[in-house]
Amino acid sequence: MITPTADVNSVRALLKEMPNPVALVPTMGALHEGHLELLRAARKKVGAHGTVAISIFVNPIQFDRPSDLTNYPKTLTEDLALCEAEGVDVAFTPQKEALYQPDHSVLVRESLLTRHLCGATRPGHFDGVLTIVLKLFNILQPDFAIFGKKDFQQLALIHRMARDLDVPVEVIGHPTVRDADGLALSSRNARLSSEQRADAPRIRRALLAARNLSTSGEQRPAAYLDSARTHLLAEAPSDFSIDYLQLVDAETLQPVATVTKPTVLATACFYNDTRLIDNIEICP
Ligand code: PAF
Repeated sequence: MITPTADVNSVRALLKEMPNPVALVPTMGALHEGHLELLRAARKKVGAHGTVAISIFVNPIQFDRPSDLTNYPKTLTEDLALCEAEGVDVAFTPQKEALYQPDHSVLVRESLLTRHLCGATRPGHFDGVLTIVLKLFNILQPDFAIFGKKDFQQLALIHRMARDLDVPVEVIGHPTVRDADGLALSSRNARLSSEQRADAPRIRRALLAARNLSTSGEQRPAAYLDSARTHLLAEAPSDFSIDYLQLVDAETLQPVATVTKPTVLATACFYNDTRLIDNIEICP
């Protein structure tokens, strides 16, 4: 089985020995087919002779709800077996003590693209994400880093951080991987009961139904939001709720007054305290 490296200096030394280019797939583990697709995209990017690295670390400082951190699935042995099968070369699996000093006091904070969506409903979440991603970039020094588009705001923020802080890593977004019924793959899906799992494709259906309005030239944001909300809540189970539903400009991530250029309809929903996100691009 692939030998994981938990120590910062050891993984640095190991990567110095590995052939370039290096593609990194940062994860929090509990790997599923969506992550495996990212690993395959990483291999494609670096070729048979390049290096594919994964980081597996449940980053405590990006969790805004303690229960979410406690309940986050942890499956390291299975994850490493999957990495082995995908031909991953390096697995960085640090413990929190290896990455955060007890008195750590520096965070990466973005101030514009974080105003809405998850940035508004999960205080501090993206400070934690950007901080760990920059740390991983500094430690592993990849040429490429690959992230899923399900986390559309996260991807936009990492692009912005790389641009604004001159980070020499090419950030690449990969299309969302879905189950056959449309539910976006997520490590949190494992926390759904069988009833919740059966119901959860309502999220994708609602986004698709709203996007259909664009075929008739609809430009009013309220029309898209009303349609999506109606579909999200139609005969929804009592443990289902909407955290947010927003229509934002695909580049600036600010709410739009009219749908006349590419926008993203994005939502976060809860089944009890399990939070799922998804989004769809609307190109008028
Ligand atoms: O998307 C994730 O799994 C995490 O937010 C990331 C990018 C690995 C940072 O912890």
